[in-house]
Amino acid sequence: MTMPNRHYGELKDSYLFYNIAQKVNAYRAAHPDAQICRLGIGDVSLPLCGAVIRALHAAVDDQAKAETFHGYMPECGAPFFREAVQGHYARRGVKLEADEIFVSSGASDELGDILDLFSADNTALVIEPAYPAYVDANILAGHKVLHLPSGAENGFVPAPSMEHRADILYICSPNNPTGAVFSRDKLRAWVDFANKTGAVILFDAAYEAFIEEDGVPHSIFEIPGARGCAIEICSLSKTAGFTGTRCGYTVIPKELACGGMNLNAMWVRNRTTKTNGVSYILQRGAAAVFTEEGQRQIMENIRVYKKNAACLMETLDRLGIWYCGGKNAPYIWLRCPGGMGSWEFFDLLLEKAQIIGTPGAGFGSCGEGYFRFSTFGSPAETAEAARRLEKLLAKE
Ligand code: MLT
Repeated sequence: MTMPNRHYGELKDSYLFYNIAQKVNAYRAAHPDAQICRLGIGDVSLPLCGAVIRALHAAVDDQAKAETFHGYMPECGAPFFREAVQGHYARRGVKLEADEIFVSSGASDELGDILDLFSADNTALVIEPAYPAYVDANILAGHKVLHLPSGAENGFVPAPSMEHRADILYICSPNNPTGAVFSRDKLRAWVDFANKTGAVILFDAAYEAFIEEDGVPHSIFEIPGARGCAIEICSLSKTAGFTGTRCGYTVIPKELACGGMNLNAMWVRNRTTKTNGVSYILQRGAAAVFTEEGQRQIMENIRVYKKNAACLMETLDRLGIWYCGGKNAPYIWLRCPGGMGSWEFFDLLLEKAQIIGTPGAGFGSCGEGYFRFSTFGSPAETAEAARRLEKLLAKE
């Protein structure tokens, strides 16, 4: 008899963002004329930048001619893509070999797929509040999951200690959902801890382009010792507007090993078996992100999202609501006013102001009482949400 993966039975009934979408669809069906402001899922609103669009068009034309046509691509990434990413790291002082960089179809896919490298006997440590896919992917892989709660008292950046000993450690900086960043010293403490305990860090760098504070690491490989204990997972979704286009990359140093097996070589084996890579067209578009023009243009878009953040933060300041984030990250993490629960606040905002946000409880139990706003909406939608929020919550 066919045996299902019984770990599906250990998951929550539905995934956070799917759950929210269902609630919003039900509200829309009941209120078809409602003008809803979407500050929920971190989905970008600005189009791809000119440099990327040009590269995509040119690549489509390449596919129309026999001389420039590409069939299957190298599974781990086209040399031009790997070299573009390598150059980007080099400009920041991080030396990588091109074959330490693997193309992916985005960080969310990769965060699940990468667990193929580890046996089911492992324990994963998730610093919460956290992107919910970390926990779900580890449950499905049969891993034991340890939850490390963080809070305002440690700036949502907890330090490691021997009680947090685990085999796979998740670190997301800038953090989704809190917007907190790991300083060089805080990150070094985790790298040292991983090296001492023989753990592997899965470093989610999806939001690195939003860092504005000097000295905050954009890559874990800026930290000495990280090459021996870390994998970095990156995405172009938020940095370059690829949520609907899909492309990212993963860095696995050649010396990274566990149990006597080399993780870079294992990932080559995995990709060459399980994928046919990412399309030529997409890799050309993605490589254009790392040109001088591409970098200038994506930063112009990021500045628009940062203005959205400023607009929401000013509103929260006027309302006297505690929050963090919004500076080095595209998320603002606030305390629900009046001691409300996070789903209670979600319902209030949807019903009374037609604003969608994300309840903190969806990111782990220590997120209860908090709420997340995404700053990826259009400026008009964000300004309208801020106006409605102020109207709803301002004290008489
Ligand atoms: C989020 O809103 O947390 C992210 O956009 C979700 C994702 O990247 O899949």
